Amino acid sequence: AGSGLTDLFSRTISYLRLSLTDRCNLRCMYCVTEEEESCLTKLPAEDLLSYEELLRVVKVAVNMGITKLRLTGGEPLVRRGVMHFIDQLGNIEHLDDIRITTNGVLLARYAGQLKKAGVTKVNISLDTLKPERFARITGVDYFHKVWEGIETVQKLGFKPVKVNMVVMRGINDDELVDFARLSRETGLQIRFIEFMPIGASSRWNKDTYMSSDEIMERITTLGELIPLQPGRADGPAKVYRLGRDARGSLGFISPISHHFCDRCNRLRLTSEGRLRSCLLHDDEVDLRAVLRRGCSDGEIAETLLAAIRNKPKGHQMAERLREQGGDCHGRMSRIGG
Ligand code: GTP
Ligand code: 5AD
Ligand code: SF4
Repeated sequence: AGSGLTDLFSRTISYLRLSLTDRCNLRCMYCVTEEEESCLTKLPAEDLLSYEELLRVVKVAVNMGITKLRLTGGEPLVRRGVMHFIDQLGNIEHLDDIRITTNGVLLARYAGQLKKAGVTKVNISLDTLKPERFARITGVDYFHKVWEGIETVQKLGFKPVKVNMVVMRGINDDELVDFARLSRETGLQIRFIEFMPIGASSRWNKDTYMSSDEIMERITTLGELIPLQPGRADGPAKVYRLGRDARGSLGFISPISHHFCDRCNRLRLTSEGRLRSCLLHDDEVDLRAVLRRGCSDGEIAETLLAAIRNKPKGHQMAERLREQGGDCHGRMSRIGG
């Protein structure tokens, strides 16, 4: 592997997130815009990078110093042939950290294969523990499938299994304490994520947004939060244990109230093959165009460097929001969160 990728602000970029498809088998209210709901805006297959193209990019990126890869979507497990692709990723030399973020619907079916292919960690998005509410938030009555998926990955020994809950006041904030209890009773790492004005951002507003400080206040009614040391390859979550005897842990991801841009190590590849250096900035570099011109591996490397050179210092979402407005137009389903 190379000596490492460093941006203009001395941040080392070692984490690549690949959005494999913009398609999804759920239609979460905060992700899907009305336009997308009408299905007119799904990408045609030729707009996605092919698996061959993706493998090529990943190999170059790993040679340059990327050590952690995350597969996202849309829902990564709905793309045709995805398991074969993941198998091939597993064979890439020096790439030992392959993770996936999934809505869990197909997880019971694929968990065994993911494990065999060398995927080390699974994050599952789940915003409610109530089946009826799940159907209202996601548009589909699949709560039990997701739950079965979560149990399956736990049984297979993926560790820790992380559950992402996007906290939305008035929609699921009455379940904070139930999710927190789950981290005490099961080995899950429950992560509370501040709602960001991206995706179907018309749904976002100051009232729906809830800060991590406020979330934490609600939870401390249950007991003491004991801070844990972060793992070396772990992302921006601050992690705690709820009482000494908790089996799992609680994470807080605070992109708005305590942004972590100064430690940001990520680069994203959107499902249309654009390199996006920041989740909350709409600047992208069109890697697909470079690939389809028939480029060399050197040119792929140069394009990765160009994207990293453009990586902004961070976002000023909190300030922009205080002044009202300021949302980001990217589509979550193409960027992958
Ligand atoms: P780990 O590798 O397990 O730590 O996961 P992760 O947090 O990197 O990935 P995941 O896909 O589970 O993302 C969790 C949440 O954090 C998502 O809601 C993302 O939108 C948010 N998030 C992740 N990375 C960033 C980032 O770079 N910037 C911002 N603003 N939010 C992020
Ligand atoms: N704000 C915060 N998190 C979001 N996610 C999707 N949209 C938003 C948003 N507007 C989360 C998903 C998933 C992760 C990749 O991003 O729930 O867990
Ligand atoms: Fe990184 Fe941009 Fe997220 Fe900040 S907002 S942590 S710079 S991706």
